[in-house]
This record gives sequence, C-alpha cells and structure tokens, in this order.
Amino acid sequence: MILQAKNLDLSYGKKIVVKDVNIEINRGEIVTIIGPNGSGKSTVIKALSRYLKPQKGQVLLENKNIFSLKTKEVAQKVAVLPQMKNVPEDFSVETLVGYGRYPHLGFRQRFSQEDYQIIKWALKKTDLLQFKERQLNNLSGGEKQRAWIAMCLAQKPEVLILDEPTTFLDISYQLELLDLIKELNESMGLTIIMVLHDINQAARYSHKLYAIKDGCVHSSGRPQDLLNEDFLKDVYKIEADVFQDNKHSCPYFIPLKKVN
Ligand SMILES: Nc1ncnc2c1ncn2[C@@H]1O[C@H](COP(=O)(O)OP(=O)(O)O)[C@@H](O)[C@H]1O
Ligand SMILES: [Mg+2]
Repeated sequence: MILQAKNLDLSYGKKIVVKDVNIEINRGEIVTIIGPNGSGKSTVIKALSRYLKPQKGQVLLENKNIFSLKTKEVAQKVAVLPQMKNVPEDFSVETLVGYGRYPHLGFRQRFSQEDYQIIKWALKKTDLLQFKERQLNNLSGGEKQRAWIAMCLAQKPEVLILDEPTTFLDISYQLELLDLIKELNESMGLTIIMVLHDINQAARYSHKLYAIKDGCVHSSGRPQDLLNEDFLKDVYKIEADVFQDNKHSCPYFIPLKKVN
C-alpha cells in the first residue's frame, strides 16, 4: 500500500464533515472517489494530500504518518492537481512546469541539466512542447489542464492526486485528459487518486472506486462489483438501468429518474 487513510475524522472549525473514513491505495492503481455534491470528496482529497490535518485518525504515506514528513518530502512523492489554481496567467507553460522541480532543489540551487531534461520530458509527455513559450492565458481549457499535469509530472511523483480534473472541459478534452491519465498509469506505473463527477467515466477509467456519502465511505470496490441499480438508488437517489460495456469491460448506466 502506498497511501492509506485510517479512521479519519475531518472538520472545518468545529464542524465535522468526514467521519471515520478508511481508504487503501495500492501502488499502481487508479482509484476514483465518487459521490454526491457536498459529500466530502474534496475534503478527503485534502487530507490525503496533506493540506488538511485530521481531527482524528491518520494518513499514511508508505506507512509513515504524512504529517510527520516535511512538505518537501511529501512533494517528492505526491503531486496534486488543485481544483482552484492561483497562478499568474501570464506565466509561460515552461515556467509553470519548472515549478514542479522545486521540491527537488536545494536551498538557492538552480536548475541542473537534469532538471531541464525532466521539464522537457514532462512537456513532451503531455504533448505541450510546441506550446512551452505560450502564456497560460492563451491556452484552451484542455491545454491548460495538460500544462498543470506536466507540472505535476516534473515533480516526478509516485502518486498523482486530481480533484475533478475534467470539470469545465468539453467531452473531447475530458476523454483526452482521462486517456492521458490512463497512459501515465500504464507506462510509468503512476498511482492515481482522483475525484470524478461522471460516474460512467469513473467506472471506465478506474481500478477501484470509493463512494462517499454524507461524509462516510458508503462502499468501495471494483467498478463491476460496485455499480448497480441499488448502488445508484442508495448513493445518488436515482433510478437507472445498468449495462455492461464489453468494449471497455466495465459497467455503465443510463439514468431514468430521481427517486425519493
Ligand atoms: N473551507 C470550508 N469551510 C467550511 N466548510 C466547508 C469547507 N469546504 C467544504 N466545506 C463543507 O464540507 C462539506 C464537504 O465538502 P466537500 O468536501 O467540498 O464536498 P465534495 O467535494 O464532495 O462536493 C460540505 O458540507 C461543505 O459545505
Ligand atoms: Mg469537491
């Protein structure tokens, strides 16, 4: 196991929003967290990526309490694609990607040849070499997301965490991004933890799903074992028909109506 959440309670101020959550992430897996709006998905992601300290319980990165590790140590292993991004839009793609190298630099150390090579490799992996001098604000939504992923890759992480990476992208960019994530997982063995809104996409691209409802893990498992009519009724309060997608060996559903 590369990352594990054990009996996590998470709160903002006094309000506990996540209760007794257990999550196990094996190396090389794509694990997706799904669940209704406001159920606590982003909150769990924040704890897994060391942004939010648990009220109770632990997050273990390779069996070490993540809060006992230095920010830099964690950043050498875990890269996070944030949902809210506060970076000047006049940054060039290459400048942004270069930020991924900072966790590996010593105090006042400048980029080495190796750093420049890794930046180039990250740009190439995300098909952005031709855009490296462009400003972020001159990129399409899909290209911009790829630039952020390139920054994460330049970190040379073992785990990549993404909170709703496809939001605001049209369907072709959504598929492009998910295919890129899958390719990174397969070619490099990169462990992926993400939150996805689209349940069918989650089922198609993940080895394992965690469903969060009302701040608790409702259920978890392989998409083919988890996604069925009862699950959709229970977690999302919808009636749906569930089918098998033989081409991608995963289930998919068509929503019929809301139930109460
Ligand atoms: N910064 C915050 N301060 C206070 N409450 C928050 C904050 N962020 C989220 N919440 C609350 O925590 C709950 C879970 O939110 P969140 O984890 O963002 O849900 P999800 O990502 O599943 O939509 C919600 O009730 C939300 O209003
Ligand atoms: Mg969220």
